[in-house]
Amino acid sequence: MGDKIPVGSSEYEAEVIPGLESCAIDELRQLAPAALGNLRRSRAGFLRFRCAGAAADLLSLRSVIALYQIHHFAIPRPKALLGHEHFTRLLGILRAAAQRFGSPPLTMGIAAAGSQTAVMQRLRQEFSRALGLQLAEAGKGELFLRLARQTEAAGWEALVRTTASPLSKRDYRLVDVPGALNATVAYAMTRLGGSEGSGERQTALNLCGGSSTILIEHAQSFPNDTLIAIDNCPDMIRIGRQHAWQARQSHRIIHLLADAKRAPIAAGSVNLLYADLPFGHHIGSHEDNVELYPALLREASRLAKPDAALILLSHDIRLLARCIRASAWRIRSQTTISLSGLHPRLFVLQRNSARI
Ligand SMILES: C[S@@+](CC[C@H](N)C(=O)[O-])C[C@H]1O[C@@H](n2cnc3c(N)ncnc32)[C@H](O)[C@@H]1O
Repeated sequence: MGDKIPVGSSEYEAEVIPGLESCAIDELRQLAPAALGNLRRSRAGFLRFRCAGAAADLLSLRSVIALYQIHHFAIPRPKALLGHEHFTRLLGILRAAAQRFGSPPLTMGIAAAGSQTAVMQRLRQEFSRALGLQLAEAGKGELFLRLARQTEAAGWEALVRTTASPLSKRDYRLVDVPGALNATVAYAMTRLGGSEGSGERQTALNLCGGSSTILIEHAQSFPNDTLIAIDNCPDMIRIGRQHAWQARQSHRIIHLLADAKRAPIAAGSVNLLYADLPFGHHIGSHEDNVELYPALLREASRLAKPDAALILLSHDIRLLARCIRASAWRIRSQTTISLSGLHPRLFVLQRNSARI
């Protein structure tokens, strides 16, 4: 994005899934090409940039977990925020942030390293009292603030979340099912198939579709594609349908209760396949995966058109890599991400027969 700093700009930090920074950078560049400046990865899972004018466009980011506006305070330690000048300034910042929410917040939270210290407790009490908000449990709160020591200069930063809930929390998710995929990861998977900009009508199939996160994210980007979700669990099919309905995509996604190893779909009919596989931790087991992974790769190969891509996510990496080597697929790219304390890997596969 170059180093041009837009005039009258504000500074932001975007929190993303570590490993998926480049996906977020691409989305930011597409969303606000003229307004952005000094876009950079500040550390794993965090991007910083400046943005001129209103940040409303940034609230539609789908690759970002949460977006924070950064405010600098020339103070030696957080205790100084209790002094009149800094307290009044931060209060004004928080009030202004809350006013931009769709409805007034009821709760607030402040996070910081050493967040159990007496000073942090006092900051929480004083700000929540002044704002008339309830203190939320640790790490939560609609009005949410992080305090951090500045890395590039002396002083402290107040990072105020721009929305009442994280951007990754999608409105369509009515039911939180175990193993449901973080929606920003699902969004990233939809960027990897290479269908962006092709404009062609495609058939995309999600084997092991669960609550349909991936295909809903796909439907929101590619309005012409035919979408099919398969899962062998009736509850997942029901919840997937509910989510698709809530996302206004129910007319777009066909849900099939079936075994992903024997999909009731014609051979050679699918352009793009996705599977967020059971990791074998909370969902399924390694023993189940030993049977499922090779069979699913075979079935995906039967269903795929010659140039099809297959995008897989798994934490059972060694098993999956071994199964891929023995399959009709070859690895086009692989990316390890950090997700809820695990380090699963995203594989983009191409049919062996496909031309590069
Ligand atoms: C990790 S979850 C997928 C979560 C999904 N991405 C979401 O966001 O909800 C894996 C899914 O695979 C399904 N599954 C496991 N074995 C299967 C099989 N043989 N055929 C079809 N689905 C299967 C499970 O029911 C579960 O819903």
